[in-house]
Amino acid sequence: MRKLLLQLDSSRLPSVFDQIVAYDAGADVVLSYGGVTEGDVRDLIHGCIFTRGPKDLHNTAVWIGGNNMSAGEQLLAMAQDALFAPFCVSIMLDSNGSNTTAVAGVVRIEETVGDLEGKKVLILAGTGPVGQRAAGLLAKDGAEVTITSRKPEQGEKARQFISARFNVQVEAATLNDPSRLPELLQGVEVLLNSGPAGVQMVPRSAWERAEALRVAVDLNAVPPLGIEGIEVNDTGVTRNGVVVFGAFGIGNFKTKLHKACVARLFTRNDLVLDAEAIAEIARELVGGKAPPSRKAPVPKKELAKKK
Ligand SMILES: NC(=O)c1ccc[n+]([C@@H]2O[C@H](COP(=O)([O-])OP(=O)(O)OC[C@H]3O[C@@H](n4cnc5c(N)ncnc54)[C@H](OP(=O)(O)O)[C@@H]3O)[C@@H](O)[C@H]2O)c1
Repeated sequence: MRKLLLQLDSSRLPSVFDQIVAYDAGADVVLSYGGVTEGDVRDLIHGCIFTRGPKDLHNTAVWIGGNNMSAGEQLLAMAQDALFAPFCVSIMLDSNGSNTTAVAGVVRIEETVGDLEGKKVLILAGTGPVGQRAAGLLAKDGAEVTITSRKPEQGEKARQFISARFNVQVEAATLNDPSRLPELLQGVEVLLNSGPAGVQMVPRSAWERAEALRVAVDLNAVPPLGIEGIEVNDTGVTRNGVVVFGAFGIGNFKTKLHKACVARLFTRNDLVLDAEAIAEIARELVGGKAPPSRKAPVPKKELAKKK
């Protein structure tokens, strides 16, 4: 039976990148819909659950993407609402690559640092979709996470959203001038730049003097790069005593993870792959073990039983 991926994209044009990766990951057909809004979801989902019998539904899966993460979260909620046992299909949310990118960065940090309990983490421009996901996951690992924003109100909004979404405590700090970096970097062991493409967030002098720093990750692949002195292809090399990863160093793992997640969708019909579940798959790929404090993702079927 052919593997069908229903692509629900909140952007007008469904992502070609997501389509190609889906085929490379083993989907036989991708049914792509763009400009999808909440009101469209129920009928689209019903179209894919009533056509094949429940025992064959693991051959059908749903992908939710688009440029806007909050729109993607709403589409995910609507899609979950439209499913009911035994008519379930697995679903993955990765609007703008934010989950897979954040997870790839977080798992490389976990591999490098080990136990993150009580470690200070600074996430630059952590108000965007990638930074928020990374902040939530690292805080779940027990790290003391601070996100930065240029605007206090924006930082506070993101802080509240992350705390509620991941059930964690994170802090927000205002960063509108690099001269504040030395103060913000005090005691910080992990630095993650999730600022926009083509914006340098950290001059070399700022992180070279950060004495506690052990690992630095830059997700910006477009020159000027986000952390001066980290090269785009850096993958765990040591520079100035700090283990560093550049955007392609993370991006290569992100693509591998993206494919593994799509393949996983077709193994059963009750998975919901959002940040935490995607992180578990990434940890499996690198052979890492989740610390006891982190719980394995609960399949949707079991969540429903608990309600
Ligand atoms: N390798 C991959 O596959 C992949 C996939 C997705 C994303 N990425 C990269 O990951 C990074 C984060 O992505 P994202 O979508 O979360 O980022 P984003 O939403 O574009 O930007 C993140 C934050 O940057 C701040 N910002 C915007 N313009 C700025 C400026 N001129 N100077 C300083 N700060 C500014 C904003 O925060 P405030 O307004 O609160 O300051 C914004 O919320 C990007 O570099 C992106 O290219 C890589």
